[in-house]
Amino acid sequence: MGALDGQVVVFTGAGAGIGRSVVTRYVAEGARVVAVDISDTVEDLAGELGTAVVPIVADVATWEGNLGAAQAALDRFGRIDVFVGNAGITDNAQPLEDIRGADLPAAFGELFGVNVLAPMLGVRACLESLIETRGSVILTGSFASTNAAGGGSLYTASKHAVHGLIRQLAYELAPDVRVNGVAPGVAPTRLRATASLGQVTTDSVLDGTERALPTQHIASVSAYDGVFTMLASRTESVAMTGTLVTVDSGLSIRGIAKPGGRVSRA
Ligand SMILES: NC(=O)c1ccc[n+]([C@@H]2O[C@H](COP(=O)([O-])OP(=O)(O)OC[C@H]3O[C@@H](n4cnc5c(N)ncnc54)[C@H](O)[C@@H]3O)[C@@H](O)[C@H]2O)c1
Repeated sequence: MGALDGQVVVFTGAGAGIGRSVVTRYVAEGARVVAVDISDTVEDLAGELGTAVVPIVADVATWEGNLGAAQAALDRFGRIDVFVGNAGITDNAQPLEDIRGADLPAAFGELFGVNVLAPMLGVRACLESLIETRGSVILTGSFASTNAAGGGSLYTASKHAVHGLIRQLAYELAPDVRVNGVAPGVAPTRLRATASLGQVTTDSVLDGTERALPTQHIASVSAYDGVFTMLASRTESVAMTGTLVTVDSGLSIRGIAKPGGRVSRA
């Protein structure tokens, strides 16, 4: 018996990275998943995971994209138990000082469109079904949801907004729908950069980052599967709502002289 037997999930940002790994785990745990991504790499999931997955290529920064995903879940599986808003883009940690003022409005619209507006649209599109099933919402935050220097001003502000959204929606939707989040630190992916700033997409993990982490190790993308599964479970997290679970390799408790007490000095 799987932890998510019988549950239907609408999952954004499912084509790569953390999302793709969690979707694979969700299916192994018995869930059926509408897997949404702007990239057509999401379509391979049907071949890999079979009829438990319905891939949808859509831009989740649009209402139509989210409505289409919710409708696909209802048409194919007849219900929605969980909405996971995981799609995100980065600002490549570009300082505000290095962004031309005239470029900011478009960059803000692009980045906040994916990181903040999209999860709002996704929850709204799935809301009636989530209330009906007394389901739950999981949003992907970040180390940058509660700390500086996990990105630039745009990314950090957007991920702080995700934290606010988790808390506000947990209040608004109680007692019918639980709302929680996961805050990764550094994951080995290639988060898409902000195109309107002319940024080029690069690896999310910079050379040498592992030496800055108390754990001294870059965990693989599958390191987040268990927490996402627990938050979606109807038995393992019933007392959790409004919570952002930190999964950051210790980044938020790292030391000044050395990252961790038992890390040997170089
Ligand atoms: N990689 C890290 O170090 C890290 C750290 C903290 C938080 N996060 C967060 O984790 C989440 C997943 O990112 P990841 O690291 O797995 O990166 P990723 O790029 O591998 O996955 C993100 C997915 O979102 C999709 N996406 C982007 N814009 C979209 C849109 N408009 N519509 C639909 N899909 C869209 C991308 O195509 C991609 O498949 C993001 O919210 C990110 O901010 C990542």
